[in-house]
Amino acid sequence: MSPILSIEEASHALQEGEIVGVPTETVYGLAANALDETAVKKVFEAKKRPLTHPLICHFPDKDSVARFASFRSPIEEQLSLLWPGALTLLLSHHSKISSIVHAGLPKASFRVPDHPIMLELLRRCNFPLAAPSANLSGCLSPTTASMVIEQLGSRIAGVIDGGACQVGLESTIVNVNENEEIEILRHGGISIEEIERKIEKKISKRPIKEMYATVGRKKRPISSGLQSRHYCPSSPLIVFLSETLPEGWEDTREVQETLQHYNVPVKQCCFLSFGDEYLPIGWGKIAFLSKKKDLQEASRRLFSCLSECCKEGFRLIFAHLLPAEGLGNAMNDRLYRASSHRFLLPS
Ligand code: TXA
Ligand code: MG
Repeated sequence: MSPILSIEEASHALQEGEIVGVPTETVYGLAANALDETAVKKVFEAKKRPLTHPLICHFPDKDSVARFASFRSPIEEQLSLLWPGALTLLLSHHSKISSIVHAGLPKASFRVPDHPIMLELLRRCNFPLAAPSANLSGCLSPTTASMVIEQLGSRIAGVIDGGACQVGLESTIVNVNENEEIEILRHGGISIEEIERKIEKKISKRPIKEMYATVGRKKRPISSGLQSRHYCPSSPLIVFLSETLPEGWEDTREVQETLQHYNVPVKQCCFLSFGDEYLPIGWGKIAFLSKKKDLQEASRRLFSCLSECCKEGFRLIFAHLLPAEGLGNAMNDRLYRASSHRFLLPS
C-alpha cells in the first residue's frame, strides 16, 4: 500500500519526477511536475489514460498562471476572479508547459484550486502541477485519500490526505471563444448561476460544446469528461430520467424487468436518494445523498456513495435525476455518464 505523505515529502517526490495523489476542493488529483515530460507521462500510464486527453495545470495564484498563459479578453480576466475555486479556464499558453500536458492544442487549461494543503504544496513547488482526477481512466473520481489508494495505490509515490473533498465534483471547464462568448465544456463544481453572478452576464444555455482533436484520420473528443461512458461505478447504475417517481415505482414493469434482466434480488439493490421520498421497501440499501435536499451536500457525497455501494457488494444501483439547477446540472451529467445510458422512464 502506498504511504500517506506529508506536504514536504510530496513536494520532494514531485521534484524528483514522481507522481503523487493530492487533495483539492473538487476531487483528488494525480499530480506531476507540468514542466517535466517524463513525470507527466507517468500520470498517463498510471491512469491508463490516452495521451490525446490533455491535463489541467494547477497554480497557487493568478499571477503564477499569468507567467504561463495570456488573458486575452476582459471576460477571461473576470472569470479568473472565481479563483481560487472549482473553475478551469482554457487560455492561450506559452511554450514552457510540456506539450504532452495540453496535447499540442493552442489552449491549455488552468486552475487555482481552493484547498489549503494543495495551495501550500503549490507554493512550495517552483513548478505548476499537471493533475487529472486520481482515478483509473473511466472510473469514479476519488473524493477521499483512501479512494485514491484503492484505485492507484501501487502505481504512485503516495497521497497527501487532505480529508474528504468539500465540493465532490470536478471543476467546471470554461472557454471564451473568439466572439467573446463563454462556452461551458464541462459542468462542475461551480454552477453556471454562480459564474453569471460573478461576471454579471448571462451565459447562453447552449448545449455543452464538444471539442474534438484529429488523431490520425479520426476525430475524437479531447475532453474525457465528454465521453458518454465515464465515471463508471463497478456495479451497473440505472437512472430514472425524472426528478420525481410515481408511487410504487419499484413494482412497475420497467423496474421488475430490469431486476430480472440483471438477475438481481432487491436485497442486493441500492437506491440513491435525494430527499426522503420514493424510498423502496425491502431493498438492500438506501444511500442518502442529502435528506434535506441540499445540492451541495449531495454533490459532496455523490462519488463516495456510488463507491461505497459497490464496495459493500450491491449489484445494482438505482438513482433519479436531481433538480436541473445549480450543482444539480453537473450531478445529472455525472449520473448520465456513470449509467452508460442505462435509463428508465417512469410510467
Ligand atoms: O476538479 C478538477 O478539474 C480535477 C482536479 C484534480 O483539479 N481535475 C480533473 O481533471 O477533473 P481530469 O483530467 O480528470 O479532467 C479534465 C478534463 C478532461 O476531460 C480533459 O480532456 C479536459 O479537462 N481538458 C484538459 N485540458 C484541456 C484543453 N486544453 N482543452 C480542452 N479540454 C481540456
Ligand atoms: Mg477525470
